[in-house]
Amino acid sequence: MSWPDTRLLDLFGIELPIIQAPMAGATTPEMVAAVSNAGGLGSLPSAQYSAAALQDALALVRGATTRPINVNFCCHTMPQADPVGQMQWRARLAPYYVETGLDPAAPLPTTGRAPFDAEFCTIVESFHPEVVSFHFGLPEPALLDRVKNTGAKIIASATNVSEALWLAERGVDAVIAMGYEAGGHRGTFLGDDMATQIGTIALVPLIVDAIALPVIAAGGIADGRGIAASFALGAAGVQIGTAYLRTPEAKIPALHRRALDEAATRETAVTNLFTGRPARGFVNRLMRDLGPLCPLAPAFPTAGSALAPLRAQAEANGRDDFTNLWAGQAAPLTREMGSGELTQWLAEQAQRRLPSQ
Ligand SMILES: Cc1cc2nc3c(=O)[nH]c(=O)nc-3n(C[C@H](O)[C@H](O)[C@H](O)COP(=O)(O)O)c2cc1C
Repeated sequence: MSWPDTRLLDLFGIELPIIQAPMAGATTPEMVAAVSNAGGLGSLPSAQYSAAALQDALALVRGATTRPINVNFCCHTMPQADPVGQMQWRARLAPYYVETGLDPAAPLPTTGRAPFDAEFCTIVESFHPEVVSFHFGLPEPALLDRVKNTGAKIIASATNVSEALWLAERGVDAVIAMGYEAGGHRGTFLGDDMATQIGTIALVPLIVDAIALPVIAAGGIADGRGIAASFALGAAGVQIGTAYLRTPEAKIPALHRRALDEAATRETAVTNLFTGRPARGFVNRLMRDLGPLCPLAPAFPTAGSALAPLRAQAEANGRDDFTNLWAGQAAPLTREMGSGELTQWLAEQAQRRLPSQ
């Protein structure tokens, strides 16, 4: 296969310009290996793992593929404890506790995501992934230098031109242009205004014009049409998430899989209710009741604790009222397929629509 732009293929040492998006809570080592073995770039998200569990997962990936892989980290700052904010959030949720017979004052489990730190950095240094990607900005300079010194290529998400310039100035090798259509957490890290977020079709050429690095289009791409369009906009490749949720290798709750099956009749919206940070997912009861963006939701990643008991109880009754069902706007375009097969199919479908080289 030949591609209109081979910069990413050369940069990462891959055959197909398709990156399987890292998806915390859904991606498995099996998915990563299947995509890399098919010629794309499989991405393992660290946010779902402790340091020890990440090492085990990486060992599984390395045992199943010798091809390049990407390891993904989040770069948020953990918030200060906010007991008053948490109390207000619990008070807002209390009627649901009463409705379901749960004690609104019961102690809550801790939920959260660990940001990139020295311990994760040591794992990068020992496993030498070919690519490391960051979400929510970049780590502090000393840690970033350590990652660069491993020889890993560095990529990171930008949701506007300012973020792309910020990343380019700090020496990343390519920028992921994450349009508003994308599933999961917005990568936004300079400001937090959801009203000004940009769609992929405008964002990709804006970033292509602003920086001299290869740009990876992400958000709303789920078939060959989206990939061919991304190249037409100047992208050198794509990062695809939601389409990989419908593979057997994705580890998601049955309720989430059902929502994806019913995507044609469900809508997605960007919401901060489940973690405290805006992310796109299928609309459910909590989003309808509180509105998808609610100022009462505590800071990322702490909003989920107070929802955990409600979620568990509803899920036991087959309901997704309090479950985060991350998905992008192109969810209805997706189809069930193995991760390796999907990677190949996406590439073939794109080839049919790209001008012959
Ligand atoms: C279930 C889910 C989880 C995600 N988790 C992460 C993550 O851990 N790290 C990350 O960088 N991006 C994450 N994302 C965003 C993806 O990297 C990617 O930008 C997005 O899926 C692209 O849009 P699409 O879903 O329309 O293909 C996630 C997306 C989804 C759907």
